[in-house]
Order: sequence, then C-alpha cells, then structure tokens
Amino acid sequence: MSTSKIFRDDVLKNKVAFVTGGGSGICRGMTEAMIRHGAKAVITSRSQERLDKAAEEMRKQTGGEILAIAADVRKPEEIINAVEKAIERFGKIDILVNGAAGNFLAPVETLSYRGFRTVIEIDLLGTYNTTKACFPYLKKSRGCVINVSAILHYQSTIYQSHVSAAKAGIDALSRNLAAEWGPHSIRVNSIAPGIIAETEGLAKLLPSAAAGSVTGSIPLQRMGTISDIEQATIFLASDAASFITGQIIVVDGGESLMRVGVLPYPESVIDPTNFSTKKLGVKL
Ligand code: COA
Ligand code: NAP
Repeated sequence: MSTSKIFRDDVLKNKVAFVTGGGSGICRGMTEAMIRHGAKAVITSRSQERLDKAAEEMRKQTGGEILAIAADVRKPEEIINAVEKAIERFGKIDILVNGAAGNFLAPVETLSYRGFRTVIEIDLLGTYNTTKACFPYLKKSRGCVINVSAILHYQSTIYQSHVSAAKAGIDALSRNLAAEWGPHSIRVNSIAPGIIAETEGLAKLLPSAAAGSVTGSIPLQRMGTISDIEQATIFLASDAASFITGQIIVVDGGESLMRVGVLPYPESVIDPTNFSTKKLGVKL
C-alpha cells in the first residue's frame, strides 16, 4: 500500500534526506517515499549513470528535488565530498539512510579473505564512514539515522557469514550511536527487512528453486515488498518516532520467529571447494 494512503503528504516537508544506495531497489523506494512526503533527497552509490537515471525517473514521478552524487561508501574522502555537495545544494541534512550494501552467496571455506573484507567494508565500514561524515549536520538539524540491516544474523544463515557479521556490526553501531548521540537529539534506528520481492538482494540470495516454498514458512504468508519498507521509513523519519531511538524495526512478516532456515544444504556442502550457486538454482 502506498505511504500516501497512510501518512500525511507533508509529514517530511522541508526535510533533506541523504541516502546511500538510493539509486536502486529498497533504498530507491525509501527515497521516493520520503520525497512523496515532502523531503528533498541526495542519493549516492558508485555508479553516476545509475543514479542519474534513477533521479530523473523519481523527479518525473514525484516532481521532487533530487541530487545524485557518485561516491563509494568504502572511501571516506568520496563520502565527505558527497556530503559537502549535499550541504552546498540543500544547506542541511535531516535524515541519513545507510542502505548501500553488497552480497553474494559463498561458503567460508571457499570465500577469499578479500571477499569477506569487501562486504564488511561496504556494509559496516560504509555505514560508519557515512554516519561520521554526516554527524556535524545531523547535530545541527537534530536529525535521524536509519540503517538498513537484515535478519540473517538473528540465528544463522549458511553462506552468509560475511553479511551476517556486517549487519550484526551495524546493529551494534546503531545502538551505540543512539546512546552516544541521544543528548544531541539525534535518533539512530535500523530497519531489518526480511525477504523483499523484486530486489537485487532476493535475486542474488534466494535460490529460485526454494522461492516457491519460502512464503509458506513466513507467518504472514507472503514476501515483503519495497512499500513495506517505505512505510517503516516514513514512520521512523517522522515525528511519530520522536521518542524512539536505538531500535531495530523488523519488517519481515514474522520470518525471524521461525526456526528453520530457507536455504537447504546442497550436495556440494560435502565438498565446499566444489560449491556452485547453480546447484542452489541461483542466477548471479
Ligand atoms: N562469490 C565469492 N566471492 C566473491 C563473489 C562471489 N559471488 N563476488 C565477489 N567475490 C569476491 C571477489 O572474488 C573478490 O575477492 P578476491 O580478490 O580475493 O577474488 C572480492 O569479493 C571483491 O570482489 P570485486 O568484484 O572486486 O568487488 P566489488 O567491490 O567490485 O563488488 C560486490 C562488490 C562483490 C559485493 C558486488 O556483488 C556488488 O557490487 N554488489 C552490489 C549489489 C548487491 O550485492 N546487492 C545486494 C544487496 S543485499
Ligand atoms: P540493491 O538494489 O543492490 O542495493 C544496494 C545498493 O548499494 C545499490 O544501489 C548499489 O549501487 C549500492 N552500493 C553497492 N556497493 C556500494 C559502494 N561500495 N558504495 C556505495 N554504494 C554501493 O539491493 P537491495 O536488495 O535493494 O538491498 C538494499 C538494502 O537492503 C541493503 O542494505 C541490503 O542488505 C538490505 N536488505 C535487502 C533484503 C532483500 O530481500 N532485498 C533483505 C534484507 C536486507 P551501485 O552498484 O551503483 O554502487
């Protein structure tokens, strides 16, 4: 359901949102929703071309103001530059969404040292780099941070050690910053999506062979949608959440309540050096 049917159109009027990963998938949805409710947005990711296309489409959809700046969250100097450009254009940042992430299925036995590090660098260090770069402006605006986490690490998810470790780190960072920055009136919360349909994350991680059987093990009997995450975003970014900080809002239809994981052990687990995502039916 569109956020427009639930929240007031001007609930984020005059707010400026800075969104990493805002050119695609879930974070593009979060961006577009915030714009629909009155915010201006800055979107960043590595590909300027992808960002420009997304910004143009969102302008057409919403008539909103969007600045697209390429920056790799692993590189503090690029993120600092993007934040400075955002300030030049809009003069402030009220809402930071840390959504940039990387992922792939890989057993630790065959995952390279650099492969593990890459995901930690994008997800966890990227969140730290961007949040630190935005801090002076969030302090001025008494703003808020929304980190995009996951539910993978609540129990265990095979072939997802890298992302599980990164998202667990993000959850810890969120709580710490909520406590440290509370006296500045900065709220820091996370949204932990479950399986979200029509996203890159789903395409990469959920074997198509298993996709059909997944919904039955989700208590609410469906996958999530990007608009489910948009609704949580508007709530957390708005004054409706003005006394909520350090929390993780799990938007997963109850999936994390269930004990059985969705990924089966493939034959190749006996010989992980022979691991192939094809055996899981995953198209990469
Ligand atoms: N399986 C195992 N290892 C992999 C891998 C895979 N499918 N894909 C990448 N790696 C490893 C590489 O082998 C490399 O390590 P090595 O040098 O020791 O071989 C390391 O990860 C870095 O790969 P590289 O392609 O240089 O990284 P990148 O910075 O260009 O890309 C990724 C980052 C790999 C995370 C890429 O998937 C990406 O850009 N993802 C963004 C989109 C996405 O993942 N969305 C889903 C979000 S949930
Ligand atoms: P997505 O569209 O691939 O989003 C990831 C974004 O991160 C892309 O826009 C990508 O753009 C950007 N990015 C990647 N590496 C970057 C880097 N080094 N610096 C800056 N930007 C970078 O995937 P999605 O599925 O919508 O996922 C969005 C978020 O939701 C992620 O945090 C993910 O972990 C989380 N999540 C998703 C699901 C799901 O079911 N899809 C479930 C739980 C959690 P560029 O390629 O242009 O850099």
